[in-house]
Amino acid sequence: MKAIQNKAIEVLNKNWKDGFSVPCANLYPFQWFWDSGFIAIGFAHFDMPKSEKEIETLLDSQWGNGFIPHIIFHTESDTYFPGSDFHRSDLHVQASREYRSTGMTQPPVTGFVLQEMYRISKDKKATLKFIEGVIDKVYDNHNYFYTNRDPQNEGLIYIYHNWESGTDNSPIWDDIWATMNPPEYTFERRDTTHVDASERPSKREYDHYLHIIDIAKEHNYKDEKIAELSPFLVQDPLFNTMLIKSNESLIDLYQLIGDNQDKIAQLEKWQNQAIESFNNKLFDKELGAYIHYDLRNEKPLRFVSSSSFSPIYANIPSKEKAAILVKTMMDKFGNDHQYLCASFDPTSERFNPKKYWRGPVWVNLNWILYKGLIQYGYNDIAKRVKEDTIEIIEKNGFYEYFDSRKEEHVDGKAGYGGKDFSWSAALLIDMLNN
Ligand code: DGY
Repeated sequence: MKAIQNKAIEVLNKNWKDGFSVPCANLYPFQWFWDSGFIAIGFAHFDMPKSEKEIETLLDSQWGNGFIPHIIFHTESDTYFPGSDFHRSDLHVQASREYRSTGMTQPPVTGFVLQEMYRISKDKKATLKFIEGVIDKVYDNHNYFYTNRDPQNEGLIYIYHNWESGTDNSPIWDDIWATMNPPEYTFERRDTTHVDASERPSKREYDHYLHIIDIAKEHNYKDEKIAELSPFLVQDPLFNTMLIKSNESLIDLYQLIGDNQDKIAQLEKWQNQAIESFNNKLFDKELGAYIHYDLRNEKPLRFVSSSSFSPIYANIPSKEKAAILVKTMMDKFGNDHQYLCASFDPTSERFNPKKYWRGPVWVNLNWILYKGLIQYGYNDIAKRVKEDTIEIIEKNGFYEYFDSRKEEHVDGKAGYGGKDFSWSAALLIDMLNN
């Protein structure tokens, strides 16, 4: 086991760029929000200063309104499209003047990442001191979400772009693309010079992605305008799970720090409403799973993906609902021919086990499910998720994503997307040490 852990450490050190980490070389040459969070968990096991710096740099990019962007363009790079010139974060009046970034965000992992760092730390006192110095920024980020991203006051946050979900080209979005007819953009893709095009989103999908950004830019990234006009406006179960888990972590951490009663009370208020709405609105009884809700077109998006099971990580389902959820996962995703856990329903005709978020297994989702399953006492299935994760990495290397079909894993070619991918390394280290 030691050899693979050493390799993981090598990957993380290689992707460290003096103040932050890239998800992987060439394909993703900047700092990404949720990647940084997962990476910090990995570093916490063997290099706490880097772990802290990763989070500090991320939080440094925060805007005046509490928003944290999804990509921070620390450097110039011509290996990525669309870059800072396209995103133009400077259009927003409260954007950071120091860092160029996108004008969209990503799943808010920072709260629970701080708590994981504390759990892992061998010097709890020092780590709590670090947390004390940054925690209010994370609180401000949650405040941004509940103040600006919840137009119907439900306690459920919307995302306005598929890149905010983290599950960039999920088949769930196909139904939204069918409601849009964006112009045909002329641009030079960079991702497909690093990775086989069959493993990446299509050109037409990119037209949609760029068009949504253009609409937001026309209105200088103003939240009220985006809520009113964006053709993509979705309540995403994974995104809201990340926020709810982070709320819980902030409450625990503020309690450890002491004082801050007002913030704890506010977090509890958000939390109670969020969990209630989540169960009422996003649980689909017939499918036996949580689903996405299309707020723009006012309709549920009735598909099962790995995001559907993520709420077990944030203690959202009752014991009964969790049992239904786990049964759905095992029935659809868990037969002996599949590694856990495909990112999209393997029984659906939209499933594609090689293409990015349309089917492959992702290590960060496995980590989330692993933790959630343990919390609800499903230790055997958790063990399988962990063993599957170790096995696919051992067989292929630290890829970005992996084929979910076991029979494809014969000659070490079932890892796809970016190579030496940071969060695959970081979360493997955490799983090995759990
Ligand atoms: C990409 O470029 O595919 C990124 O995942 C966007 O976040």
